[in-house]
Amino acid sequence: MAPAAASRIAVITGASSGIGAATARQLAAAGYRVVLTARRKDRIEALAEEINAAGHQAAAYALDITDRAAVDEFATAFKTVGVLVNNAGGALGADPVASADPEQWRQMYETNVIGTLNVTQALLPALTASGDGTVVVLSSTAGFATYEGGGGYVAAKHAEHVLAETLRLEIVGTPVRVVEVAPGMVKTEEFALTRFGGDEEKAAKVYAGVAEPLTADDVADTISWAVTRPPHVNIDLLVVRPRAQASNTKVHREQ
Ligand SMILES: NC(=O)c1ccc[n+]([C@@H]2O[C@H](COP(=O)([O-])OP(=O)(O)OC[C@H]3O[C@@H](n4cnc5c(N)ncnc54)[C@H](OP(=O)(O)O)[C@@H]3O)[C@@H](O)[C@H]2O)c1
Repeated sequence: MAPAAASRIAVITGASSGIGAATARQLAAAGYRVVLTARRKDRIEALAEEINAAGHQAAAYALDITDRAAVDEFATAFKTVGVLVNNAGGALGADPVASADPEQWRQMYETNVIGTLNVTQALLPALTASGDGTVVVLSSTAGFATYEGGGGYVAAKHAEHVLAETLRLEIVGTPVRVVEVAPGMVKTEEFALTRFGGDEEKAAKVYAGVAEPLTADDVADTISWAVTRPPHVNIDLLVVRPRAQASNTKVHREQ
């Protein structure tokens, strides 16, 4: 379903790679004017150029979502916003609680939770003003169950889940819906690399033997589907995993 004029702008955080970039391409193709944000300006500018060259509409805006002043400044550019996809985030490290780096835990909370809070708070007036706004929160299956070595990321994603659930309760009656998308294993080019500080061998092990992990496009597809439902339909939560993954810790790997 094509978006109505007042709700045509879709802001996507973390659009410089993976799920965010795929979502930007898909929402642009669905008729949204996409606003791509991330810290790496060169990458979002290149993606905006690609989307515009394909005949769709995109603009790039370099933004660190943990910088509240910068987020507030960014938000002043918008009177109305139809869709906000809170996608920026990720994991750092996989050490057990006994030896994990508290700074990594802090950073994960700062990016996944406070970053999502910052952008959501700043754009909520514009989402409301659109008369038909959608806030998407990219949590994770880590937002629902833990696994060894996952403590800091799992804690942050649980908090992001709570942010989504609480916001939905608090703004009921306004023309804004809150959609949470919780993916399991998605093979994106940077997620595991970032988690392991650029260690390619450790990153590759995450997906070793898994025939078909989800792709960024698979997740973007679920996001696009949820936001293009008629305005009165609120998809509260979508949990999406590859067939080879039955839980965070039960993954089928070919030998
Ligand atoms: N891959 C998975 O298996 C998986 C599973 C479940 C959930 N998720 C979640 O899905 C989301 C996207 O994951 P992905 O796999 O696409 O990861 P990714 O490729 O590593 O992308 C992360 C994005 O977040 C942006 N980002 C990070 N910190 C930021 C900050 N402070 N300010 C602004 N942007 C920031 C990065 O851009 P810059 O570095 O340019 O700022 C990048 O565009 C994350 O929230 C992740 O936790 C991923």
